[in-house]
Amino acid sequence: MIVLGIETSCDETAAAVVTDAREIRADVVLSQLDDHTPYGGVVPEIAARAHLQHLDGLIRRAMAEAGIGFGDLDAVAATGGPGLIGGVIVGVMTAKAIAAARGLPFVAVNHLEGHALTARLTDDVAFPYLLLLVSGGHCQLLAVEGVGRYRRFGTTIDDAVGEAFDKTAKLLGLGYPGGPLVEKAAARAINPGRFELPRPMLGRPGCDFSFSGLKTAVRRHAEELGGSLSEADRDDLAAAFQSTVAEVLADRCARAIRRFKEDHPQGGALVVSGGVAANKAIRARLSTLADKHRMPFVAPPLRLCTDNAAMIAWAGIERFRLGQSDPLNFAPRPRWPL
Ligand code: KG4
Ligand code: ZN
Repeated sequence: MIVLGIETSCDETAAAVVTDAREIRADVVLSQLDDHTPYGGVVPEIAARAHLQHLDGLIRRAMAEAGIGFGDLDAVAATGGPGLIGGVIVGVMTAKAIAAARGLPFVAVNHLEGHALTARLTDDVAFPYLLLLVSGGHCQLLAVEGVGRYRRFGTTIDDAVGEAFDKTAKLLGLGYPGGPLVEKAAARAINPGRFELPRPMLGRPGCDFSFSGLKTAVRRHAEELGGSLSEADRDDLAAAFQSTVAEVLADRCARAIRRFKEDHPQGGALVVSGGVAANKAIRARLSTLADKHRMPFVAPPLRLCTDNAAMIAWAGIERFRLGQSDPLNFAPRPRWPL
């Protein structure tokens, strides 16, 4: 089985060709970073227009790299939501057009399901597993019990982790997108233990997250330093922020592991995915936690953690081989909880 995947829900235009033998035959991603950087964040209208401009060419490139024609495909999958609706419409309409023209099945993929199932494309991960999904818009702990079978243990009560990284980067004057820039600054820190930040929700019952207080604490430290931060201040604050986030994520995961093991005494892996899973300090902290609980730890390669179309093609394969597909009147969904 060979499937074309399309991703257009945020600021990456992406197309990929993947087989049910877990082979990524092509995986092209075009970042719109330069289009949005002047505005310090993603502008939905600009994103939608850029998807429209580039998607056809990217699909052609992916098909050429895979060495196949549309007639060789078994299905077309596209992100059907959640996300910026203008972009989602571009991806869904393009996928439907290919499906209609070639008489192929169309699969509308939940973007979060794409992140959730990536580990089964890159590694031999069986259901059930415990998933920490951390991206720009989401922060959730889920038991993944099967395709379409997700049980949520916790979510954020304010900001998503990626959002907290992006906002902290902005207030430290590091720029956009924040995650990778905070990580780089933290790696440069000379005195990473200099600032003590509050650890929101640490030790509290349940598996929910909160990050807005942390961001406020970083702002307060920055103000106390007189507003204009030296590079050393900035790097030390970035390091404090990153290690606190890692600590909070590990604490929440430890609680979720207990619940997961009650429901699934046979065990399962701890999987982390989504854009923030590209962070090496966070991966390392979670890997230590998994070791402690004798769980295999799985984190997809960095380029498959951030938004891409291979994960959409793969989620399409997982659904299609269970006999699931969607009608051509599927309506794109700005909101679509897992
Ligand atoms: O999954 P993703 O590419 O898009 C969404 O679905 O949201 O995640 C993007 C988010 C951004 O907030 C970005 O700052 C964050 O992931 N991110 C990182 C890193 N790389 C990307 N956060 C921390 N460390 C990183 N290295
Ligand atoms: Zn994403």
